[in-house]
Amino acid sequence: MNEIRDRNRVVIFDTTLRDGEQSPGASMNLEEKVRIASLLEEMGVDVIEAGFPIASNGDFEAVSAVAKRVKASSVAGLARASRKDIDRAWEALKGARRPRIHTFISTSPLHMKFKLQMEPERVHQAIVDSVTHARNLCDDVEWSAEDASRTEHDFLCRCVESAIKCGAGTINIPDTVGYAVPEEFAALIAMLMNRVPNIDKAIVSVHCHNDLGLAVANSLAAVRAGARQIECTINGLGERAGNAALEEIVMALKTRQDLMPYATGVKTEYITKASRLVSTITGFPVQPNKAIVGANAFAHESGIHQDGMLKHAGTYEIMTPESVGLTRSTLVMGKHSGRHAFKSKLKELGFELGDNALEDAFRRFKELADKKKDVFDEDLIALVEDEAERGNDIIKFVSLQVIAGSKGPQRADLELDVDGTVKSTTATGDGPVDATFNAIKHIFPHEAKLQLFQVHAVTAGTDAQAEVTVRLEEKGKTVNGQGADTDTLVAAARAYVHALNKLLTKRQKTAPAALTA
Ligand code: KIV
Ligand code: ZN
Repeated sequence: MNEIRDRNRVVIFDTTLRDGEQSPGASMNLEEKVRIASLLEEMGVDVIEAGFPIASNGDFEAVSAVAKRVKASSVAGLARASRKDIDRAWEALKGARRPRIHTFISTSPLHMKFKLQMEPERVHQAIVDSVTHARNLCDDVEWSAEDASRTEHDFLCRCVESAIKCGAGTINIPDTVGYAVPEEFAALIAMLMNRVPNIDKAIVSVHCHNDLGLAVANSLAAVRAGARQIECTINGLGERAGNAALEEIVMALKTRQDLMPYATGVKTEYITKASRLVSTITGFPVQPNKAIVGANAFAHESGIHQDGMLKHAGTYEIMTPESVGLTRSTLVMGKHSGRHAFKSKLKELGFELGDNALEDAFRRFKELADKKKDVFDEDLIALVEDEAERGNDIIKFVSLQVIAGSKGPQRADLELDVDGTVKSTTATGDGPVDATFNAIKHIFPHEAKLQLFQVHAVTAGTDAQAEVTVRLEEKGKTVNGQGADTDTLVAAARAYVHALNKLLTKRQKTAPAALTA
């Protein structure tokens, strides 16, 4: 990564899989992390922080899987300032073509006194020891001063200088609690650029949280003051109010070249796809008025605006929808479309499926085209994403018949295939969704608690597919399941079954004996 020394090049460091996953409920499994990492690599992200290997075996495995898969981007693993953390991170990363150890410790008086209960001198020594140790293992080491924006300047300068002396090639200055404002944060970066004697030997990075809604503004102000790496996440996912949103950073730099003549390596046409993938996997919806990726970000409702747009798009549009990969909803195919056309359409949308997965997806496409007059790109994306990962499922959806309406009781007749045996049941409930979920519990008893049930229409129209997200929690572990269908209740059943399968995989990994529900 240190070859990126062009003065105006800003390194994009994505931490969706690490800081993003720290959002309560945003858990992702190994396959999902690899899918996201592969897309981030394809879109030209420079560094992908894949996780915190010492945090759990799941994190460790995900970091090693991403490390093995990703070739073009650097892959980072987080570690506290201890040999054990750093060794574990290195163990997970060493299969990567471009590994990076990212080690951190708090430097603010508040954190040192109450969180670490360490004197500044011991913290300084820990920085020297941890960076030296990391550098003995890996050529690319990043050091972060947690809570840097509330750290005393003299101490911060001393720590940064020592970290660089010990071999850190990237120095990250986080606004951990989202407290800074742009002028102040830019001044902090300028202060470091002016006062740390060896600062030219490292890339200065920033990592801003969004507690006051200023994460993107602070990151951009920092770049103007000399920072050349920005840490960010897709859709601004992250702890509490989240991190700086990658799509906002990249599009602000691209759109305001007059003020910020800096380049990134991100192919912005991938932004919409990445946003949708992260939202689907985590079950975190994107607010409609969210900059760049919200459903309304490029919609023009008022007559005056529409009139202006017709005369000249620049009147109300500062960037084109195409530049973020947003294509107008296009009619793709009908029920007479063949396998070949289906395959090439999927390829155009960025999906290359193996023979079996393609066959399954094609069968579901035919079923969909029978039910739905117009099949759009969005429908195909939902269908393929719904199909992904289903191959190894222990429980499979077979059929559902529901009696709904105001007269009650609502009733669900359900069939599921459990490990090769089709089982059926009838259940009632407080409404059709409750009846459906009760039926699943009859067939496959379990203790997991429902934490989220969310429905989203994939396209407009009453025949639109519903995309449902279900979040289940069992013994402190949460999983998200997704399902799509023109029938909302079928989509709900598929989503629930998907989440249940994920819990079973999790259980299998930790305690194989617990598989029988
Ligand atoms: O917010 C923060 O300070 C962090 C560090 C670990 C980089 O996430
Ligand atoms: Zn953070």
